[in-house]
Amino acid sequence: MSSPGGRGRLLAISDLHITYPENRGVVEGLRPASPDDWLIVCGDVSELSADLEWALGVLRERFATVIWVPGNHDLWTVPEDPVGLRGVARYLHLVGICRRLGVLTPEDPYPVWEGPGGPVTVVPLFVLYDYSFGSNIAPTKALALARAHAAGVVCSDELVLFPDPFPSREAWCRARVRDTELRLRALDPGLPTVLVNHFPLVRAPTAVLRHPEFAQWCGTDLTADWHVRFRARAVVYGHLHIPRATVYDGVPFAEVSLGYPREWHRRRVARPPLRQILPPEGVS
Ligand SMILES: [Fe+2]
Ligand SMILES: [Fe+2]
Repeated sequence: MSSPGGRGRLLAISDLHITYPENRGVVEGLRPASPDDWLIVCGDVSELSADLEWALGVLRERFATVIWVPGNHDLWTVPEDPVGLRGVARYLHLVGICRRLGVLTPEDPYPVWEGPGGPVTVVPLFVLYDYSFGSNIAPTKALALARAHAAGVVCSDELVLFPDPFPSREAWCRARVRDTELRLRALDPGLPTVLVNHFPLVRAPTAVLRHPEFAQWCGTDLTADWHVRFRARAVVYGHLHIPRATVYDGVPFAEVSLGYPREWHRRRVARPPLRQILPPEGVS
């Protein structure tokens, strides 16, 4: 556990996609600078649950605290994974792996970062998406999906991210939003938060997607004001594979993706793979 006078940092990374051997090598190289460092792993570790267990296990041995939220790829049910569970059952199976490893998930009490930049409640979220961001290209979900099919830009979630026992991914999303909002409203109002979600909590970051058809799989308007309502000092997300720092309503948002090897190879600005969330960079 970090202390206010300690040297620990709250760090983050997402979209490790370790089915790519090069990315597995990146994970093997991730190390804390201080024994007090915490690490947020913001989803899309792997489609294979054994890979996820390996990566989170390696990181848990190195970092004082590891916090994981699911990405859509983690929730896929693919033939290559002997765990055949779907939807909520798969999610809870992954939560069970995290519990065995001592990794925190959205199903645990929210931890308080007491190190530099704290105290802050760190809130791992799982609220999925409901296709509302698809209004960037069409007025209804059906039309937005049709346009995505026509453009050849259809997220594989349509085939392998099952919502069971919910009737649809958007129904699962609405249930998660409702339950999560209750927990957020019960938080200590005297503490700021760091909100962590695989998908961006606001739609603005999707404006820079190369394929606007993809936005419909990227979040929900139901969380558009959470960073303001729930006192966020920072919001951490991934999924877009467009690492950058932006500010919305005065709140810093960090997209912390590693992404696929072909993506991080071509980035002209080399970034260290771990992004510092707290203390804010430039403040020691
Ligand atoms: Fe990803
Ligand atoms: Fe993703």
